[in-house]
Amino acid sequence: MTAPNPAGTHAPPRAAMFPNEAAAREAACNSGARWVGGRLRYFDSVDSTNARAKRLAATGWPEGTVVLAERQTHGRGRAGHTWHCPPRAGLLVSVVVPQPDHTKGADLTPAWLTAAGALAMIEATGWPGLLVKWPNDVVVPDTHAMNKRRKLGGVLVETASDTGICVLGIGLNVTVLPDEFPPEFREGAGSLLSVFGEAPDRAEVFARFLAELETRIEHPEALARELRERSFTLGREVEIPSAGEGRPALKGTAVDIDDAMRLVVRLPGGATVTV
Ligand code: BTN
Repeated sequence: MTAPNPAGTHAPPRAAMFPNEAAAREAACNSGARWVGGRLRYFDSVDSTNARAKRLAATGWPEGTVVLAERQTHGRGRAGHTWHCPPRAGLLVSVVVPQPDHTKGADLTPAWLTAAGALAMIEATGWPGLLVKWPNDVVVPDTHAMNKRRKLGGVLVETASDTGICVLGIGLNVTVLPDEFPPEFREGAGSLLSVFGEAPDRAEVFARFLAELETRIEHPEALARELRERSFTLGREVEIPSAGEGRPALKGTAVDIDDAMRLVVRLPGGATVTV
């Protein structure tokens, strides 16, 4: 969650990831992925890479189509939030993925795809300290930050109600500087550069992400274990929002993540609930 830099006063000069779309396609081609990134669009600016990917898929672009942008004018976050990132300071990627299949148990549900996207991006960065705050945040533990973590990225899986087209979008803050975050996010947000003092090459992270995502989509059996190992949430106190009017929010300890990527929470009385 980063602010557009209103006056441009703090923004350092930032290079584009690729000189042109052909170079981005070549990077995808050489990434090791076979079908993720098989078709690709690379934009200097789009409304939202998720929205653009859905529109492309609706006109026949296949599963694996990738939309990559240097800037979004209407970047979307979960729960109707906006995703802000200064131009060329992050990774803004969407992938048209196989449609969620609820008949296959844990496979290819939005929850499962969300975990696959977050874990693939973490692996692609090469930073071992990154974790997943269930269900969709890429974070780094930080005892001085709000809620003891900094959010560096997030995943948004959207399924179009009319076509069933499913898009996995991920945003990662790479070189965003602390004062580029809006004041309300400064305590809880960060970028690879602001947290670790250095940032990897975005083009390389992007290419690795394509291959890592494809591997996870093709090998679902390993995903729940990986999520448990990379979980910021397990062992921590969590609050479960109210399940409806008259039903109170619950507090408990996150004790497990099941194979459907649901969080298992132990309540103070000892009973467990699955979220
Ligand atoms: C969250 O709320 O944490 C999810 C944020 C997801 C942001 C990414 S940026 C690329 C893709 N396009 C969008 O409009 N949103 C996602």
